[in-house]
Amino acid sequence: MCPRLFLCAFAVIAIAGNGHAAKILGLFPHTGKSHQMVFEPLLRSLAERGHHVTSVSFFPLKNPPANYTDVSLEGIAGLGVETFDLSIFEAPNVLLKIPVVKGIANQLMGFQPLVGMALDVCGKALNWPPLIEALKSDYDVVLVENFNSDCMLGLLHIYGIKSPVVALLSSYLTPWSGYRIGVFENPAYVPVLSTSFTSPMTFLERLENTFVYLYHNLWFRYLIQVKERELIEKRFGSKIPDLQDLAKNYSLMMVNTFHTLNGVRPTVPGVIEVGGMHLDHTRKIIPEYIERFLNESEHGVILLSFGSLIKTATIPKYKEDIIVNALSKLKQRVIWKYENSGEEGTLTGNILRVKWLPQYELLQHKKIIAFIAHGGLLGMTEAISAGKPMVVVPFFGDQPANGAAAAAAGFAKVVPYMELTEKALTEALDFVLSAETRVKARLVSSIWLDRQADPLETAVYWTERVIRWGHAAPLHSASRDMPFYQLALLDVIAAFTVAILILVTLLWFILSAVYRLVFSKENKLKMH
Ligand SMILES: *[C@@H]1O[C@H](CO)[C@@H](O)[C@H](O)[C@H]1NC(C)=O
Ligand SMILES: *[C@@H]1O[C@H](CO)[C@@H](O)[C@H](O)[C@H]1NC(C)=O
Ligand SMILES: *[C@@H]1O[C@H](CO)[C@@H](O)[C@H](O)[C@H]1NC(C)=O
Repeated sequence: MCPRLFLCAFAVIAIAGNGHAAKILGLFPHTGKSHQMVFEPLLRSLAERGHHVTSVSFFPLKNPPANYTDVSLEGIAGLGVETFDLSIFEAPNVLLKIPVVKGIANQLMGFQPLVGMALDVCGKALNWPPLIEALKSDYDVVLVENFNSDCMLGLLHIYGIKSPVVALLSSYLTPWSGYRIGVFENPAYVPVLSTSFTSPMTFLERLENTFVYLYHNLWFRYLIQVKERELIEKRFGSKIPDLQDLAKNYSLMMVNTFHTLNGVRPTVPGVIEVGGMHLDHTRKIIPEYIERFLNESEHGVILLSFGSLIKTATIPKYKEDIIVNALSKLKQRVIWKYENSGEEGTLTGNILRVKWLPQYELLQHKKIIAFIAHGGLLGMTEAISAGKPMVVVPFFGDQPANGAAAAAAGFAKVVPYMELTEKALTEALDFVLSAETRVKARLVSSIWLDRQADPLETAVYWTERVIRWGHAAPLHSASRDMPFYQLALLDVIAAFTVAILILVTLLWFILSAVYRLVFSKENKLKMH
């Protein structure tokens, strides 16, 4: 079954016109479910268009299409689904109490767990027979998640797979990714995705942004990339190229953003924005008890969800009270995704807690008038697509940046989880429930939706374009092969400086010679 008509129509034309069913390998060694939710529709569409897809991931499809082979990594590591315990925010590191250091420390610590995850999965994947078996075939293109690991690039090299590589990102470019396609993200005006900045930035913000940009580059290089290379060389007993150089062979990078939401940045033809690719346009069934709750609401309903990774039930009582107190003052009703609730939901006052909900379907429902969320990119994308204003309560990772971007776009208010108070939440709710903000959210949505092609169609097109032309049609800029001193023009600045020094010195000699000449003439005149 094709979920989207245009893709079905395309499928017939593409395969008939091209006569080429490609062999596609997908490598997704990250355990976060929200990441895989971005890539899955693309893999599925490619198979439905007649290609042969082999997908290596922690999340095999429940009902795979024909010619789709799952290679499961399940069992290698625990999955990132409703596992994040909120109590860690209750005993914060002392660093998080110092005003200036706080922002930076929060960002660095938020990314730290990614090191252990990357090395753990890499070490085990190298010895995972189903993966090794999949690498023994040939492919026309390889899709690989570009996030906290380059382990798969090393494996592709070991198994001599030379096909073009397309990187998929579930976010915008991480600070250590731009160079791979020749995007130089100038920290003077491109906020790093772990910050909560939007451009233009103040001096202090640029200072922090630049520091975090440099830190994350060194952090990824020395704590992950170099160590993964060692793991691979040890396992296979042979030298491989620097993973950094293998990464520079990407043919294309697809990012899960669109600039109406995520901000305008410099880019190259090899970076394709496919934000919205995960949106499922098939109608989902809203459970009857939820639909009744919606139908019976007089003033509309607010949706509250902290996403798939956070275990909502671990929220401390006092924080839960803050949220409940602020919400129970409203005349609107609230639906809260809360995993520890009854089968038919648990109703207290105007708040219905439900185990699971069809989020995007609900956001599109006319009774849902606002969304309180953690700022994960998928939920943000769904809200902007549905035109619903948001209160963003960011926790970590790219959530603060996503929240800041939505606030800058005018349809959201940010209340960081660490700064959550009843007053702040009430004020934020007042803002998003106002008629102006709701109109603004619909306007931003219309702009966001206005594109040349549907994002999934765009992703399919660019994948097939790489299959057709591969290395013959480069899409990166020359900057990816330039050393830093050339990119930053340090050599040119040095040459200018030397030239200016020489000129100034020359000028000084000439002037002093002229001066001496004039001065001695004057003296002679005076003597007469
Ligand atoms: C699956 O692959 C085979 C062999 O290439 C092909 O004949 C068949 O049409 C494909 N099935 C679908 C549903 O695309
Ligand atoms: C990158 O790709 C090109 C073109 O296929 C190839 O010649 C080169 O060896 C590759 N570089 C690395 C480091 O694998
Ligand atoms: C809710 O309202 C819609 C439209 O008025 C109706 O079709 C649907 O059956 C109602 N659902 C429930 C559970 O009351």
